[in-house]
Amino acid sequence: MSDFNGLNVAEHLAYEAAQPWPEATRTHEQTPLVSFENVRRDFGTVAAIKGASAAIYPGDRIALLGSSGSGKSTLLHLLGGLDQPSGGAVEWPALGDPTQLRPGKVAFVFQAQSLMPPLTALENVALPLLLLGAAPEEAQQQAAAALETLELASIAGQLPEELSGGQAQRVAVARALMTRPQLILADEPTGQLDSATAQHLMDVLLAALGPDTALVLATHDLAVARRMQSVWRMENGVLEGNL
Ligand SMILES: Nc1ncnc2c1ncn2[C@@H]1O[C@H](COP(=O)(O)OP(=O)(O)O)[C@@H](O)[C@H]1O
Ligand SMILES: [Mg+2]
Repeated sequence: MSDFNGLNVAEHLAYEAAQPWPEATRTHEQTPLVSFENVRRDFGTVAAIKGASAAIYPGDRIALLGSSGSGKSTLLHLLGGLDQPSGGAVEWPALGDPTQLRPGKVAFVFQAQSLMPPLTALENVALPLLLLGAAPEEAQQQAAAALETLELASIAGQLPEELSGGQAQRVAVARALMTRPQLILADEPTGQLDSATAQHLMDVLLAALGPDTALVLATHDLAVARRMQSVWRMENGVLEGNL
């Protein structure tokens, strides 16, 4: 099997592991979007997060690397206010009322198919603006523009079941961008995609992102992680890296 530019999987992994990592280029001058201190999350006897502390600043591009079950999704859910820590604290100093984070200020892109099956791609993308009270015509116009940006104009009228995996993930990215969020939490958005499609998704996502929008992207794909500016590593619930 030679899926990666003519390299087999083992050669590809060895090649990726030998590449240089991004420089630590984060500046910590602004008020953090999210700051978390000593965060723990226990599920019964499973300690999914074991005391993590860090902050996310405007414009951050952070790869959250870690093997399956290491705690990446749990951390993203806590950072987006979808879940509460068992100990420690998560705060959103620059984002105001923590009950009003979504869908306006914080947006998610999930690993699994997350589009609403009975709605077209366009209607799925318009949804966050409708939730925020936009007029339907305005929401549809902006959704059409977002689909155009992500090279998806031709599939605007299709249902999720009529899309390829890569198209569906790009629609989910378009939906996440709709409210011009200050933070996007992307949970293995390229997890179901082959390496070329994954890189294309990263191309369009990074190109569409406003300079001040922070992105935290969980992945176990080293080639995807290298597209980001800094790397956090999660192993067994312990967070390390360029925190
Ligand atoms: N809702 C849940 N209930 C029970 N255990 C959970 C739940 N969510 C996650 N876990 C457990 O927490 C650990 C971390 O899971 P997760 O954050 O999904 O890891 P990752 O996203 O890195 O694959 C795993 O052991 C997982 O089984
Ligand atoms: Mg996960």
